[in-house]
Amino acid sequence: MMLRGAIVWHLCSIFMILANVGADDPYRFFTWNVTYGDIYPLGVRQRGILINGQFPGPDIFSVTNDNLIINVYNSLPDPFLLSWNGIQQRRNSFQDGVYGTTCPIPPGHNFTYTLQVKDQIGSFFYFPSLAFHKAAGGFGGIRILSRPQIPVPFPNPADDITLLIGDWYTHDHKILQAILDGGHRLPLPDGILVNGRGPNGTLFTVDQGKTYRFRISNVGLQNSLNFRIQGHMMKLVEVEGTHTVQTTYSSLDVHVGQSYSVLVTMDQPAQDYYIAVSTRFTTKVLTTTTTLHYSNSHRPVSGAVPGGPTTQIDSSLNQARSIRTNLTASGPRPNPQGSYHYGLINITRTIKLVSSAAQVNFKQRYAVNDVSFVPADTPLKLADYFKIEGVFRVGSIQDNPTGKKMYLDTSVMGADYRAYIEIVFQNHENIVQSWHLDGYSFWVVGMDGGTWTPASRNLYNLRDAVSRCTTQVYPKSWTAIYIALDNVGMWNLRTEFWARQYLGQQFYLRVYSPVESLRDENHIPENALRCGRAEGRATRPV
Ligand SMILES: *[C@@H]1O[C@H](CO)[C@@H](O)[C@H](O)[C@H]1NC(C)=O
Ligand SMILES: *[C@@H]1O[C@H](CO)[C@@H](O)[C@H](O)[C@H]1NC(C)=O
Ligand SMILES: *[C@@H]1O[C@H](CO)[C@@H](O)[C@H](O)[C@H]1NC(C)=O
Ligand SMILES: *[C@@H]1O[C@H](CO)[C@@H](O)[C@H](O)[C@H]1NC(C)=O
Ligand SMILES: *[C@@H]1O[C@H](CO)[C@@H](O)[C@H](O)[C@H]1NC(C)=O
Repeated sequence: MMLRGAIVWHLCSIFMILANVGADDPYRFFTWNVTYGDIYPLGVRQRGILINGQFPGPDIFSVTNDNLIINVYNSLPDPFLLSWNGIQQRRNSFQDGVYGTTCPIPPGHNFTYTLQVKDQIGSFFYFPSLAFHKAAGGFGGIRILSRPQIPVPFPNPADDITLLIGDWYTHDHKILQAILDGGHRLPLPDGILVNGRGPNGTLFTVDQGKTYRFRISNVGLQNSLNFRIQGHMMKLVEVEGTHTVQTTYSSLDVHVGQSYSVLVTMDQPAQDYYIAVSTRFTTKVLTTTTTLHYSNSHRPVSGAVPGGPTTQIDSSLNQARSIRTNLTASGPRPNPQGSYHYGLINITRTIKLVSSAAQVNFKQRYAVNDVSFVPADTPLKLADYFKIEGVFRVGSIQDNPTGKKMYLDTSVMGADYRAYIEIVFQNHENIVQSWHLDGYSFWVVGMDGGTWTPASRNLYNLRDAVSRCTTQVYPKSWTAIYIALDNVGMWNLRTEFWARQYLGQQFYLRVYSPVESLRDENHIPENALRCGRAEGRATRPV
């Protein structure tokens, strides 16, 4: 009897290990030490968050299906978490590294993330998710290369370069956080960084005649940015894991949280050129330039810094619509479409999300469908797993705006595993928004000005829309997405406008399977930290 029990338990644990990580796929190990350190990105000293002494943090290089074992030592005096923008963590939202899924790493402690980049390719990034840490650094690029046997729809570039662009404050992140906690709005950012450096900070040396891949991610806090290279065209090849139709652009809008790969051929006379990054849709335009240096160049940069597009949204909207999937190119698998096509499946539910800004108790807050999110005392995923009552309520946010005054709640929306849903982001405000869903990639089927109605579906691209994890919504416009809910877990849906996210413009989508099988969702990781009302809980619920 005991023996049988032991064998069953043993088989269970083997199965658990197999379920948690792909046993046949390679492992990559990382040990990261997170510290504060002095940085001078805009020429003044400030406190940055460094990873192994670096700002920005190290790039993660990986190949489809790799297991990434990342042991993070928190040497900050604050609780800390990293999250993985666009890494899907299939069946494993415990690893997502946002407060709704994962306990913060206490100061002086470490936590080992076990991620698998299952069935993914493309360009993504990681960032610190708690407090207002993102304003101090702690971010870095993630690239997932195709497996060697899978064809990539362009020749191998001479080099593959990560460009992390973003707006930046010279204020300390705790001061920014205190401004928000006090119920106020942030001032405008002070500048724009490219790979952690301000104007003229970085030099990219290239060989004339060769073609380079640039992976551009907007890791900033609120501004859409325009990216361009003097005298050079950019061929778009990939968007957050989708190989695109290879269209050529002279400038590219990168909204907060988005990632793009472009190929640039160094086909110009041997000299140096400006790489320019500037804020888009702002009255005061902030610009940072860095230098593209031809290795055989004899002339420094010259001429005017190439200007960005004007502030109208039309050109940006047209550019967004021109970004489409290359239907004959491989993704993570050889057959890009598999057995089904996203445009032929009937949607089972439509969710309309409307953002708002208002004062609650005399403090500035932001909401989705009238609910401004407040964190619970326990990560929602742990409360769900251990069946701890009273932490959150499924249905605390509605599928449509309620018309009520804005209120605070720990908003969680329920959804069925394997449902196929449509989400319409309706923006009645006069700013460009950017929305992200953890755990998923979704099809951006349509966007247009005005108010969405069912007739707007006639405009949808049901043929070759891109699948990605972050989409913009233009001012007084809508964007519609389709999502196949094939990943059980507790997933954060949030604005990427970081002050708004901090002040409540987010919620969790609880994708639920009543079966509670390891086929659908992993057990809690053996090393998962416990906190709040999950403190002291055993590995498995009884
Ligand atoms: C992290 O870095 C700090 C500062 O350099 C050092 O004191 C500490 O020992 C390091 N911790 C680990 C785990 O490497
Ligand atoms: C902390 O690091 C140690 C040493 O590498 C490791 O054995 C342990 O599992 C880590 N702790 C967590 C919670 O991941
Ligand atoms: C799409 O991908 C195919 C296959 O890799 C490639 O040959 C073709 O040039 C691409 N088409 C466009 C329009 O980007
Ligand atoms: C930086 O580049 C700008 C042009 O973008 C130029 O006007 C300025 O002199 C440069 N500054 C330094 C310190 O080289
Ligand atoms: C979608 O719905 C239509 C109309 O109800 C039906 O004819 C069609 O078979 C459905 N398609 C799928 C793939 O279920």
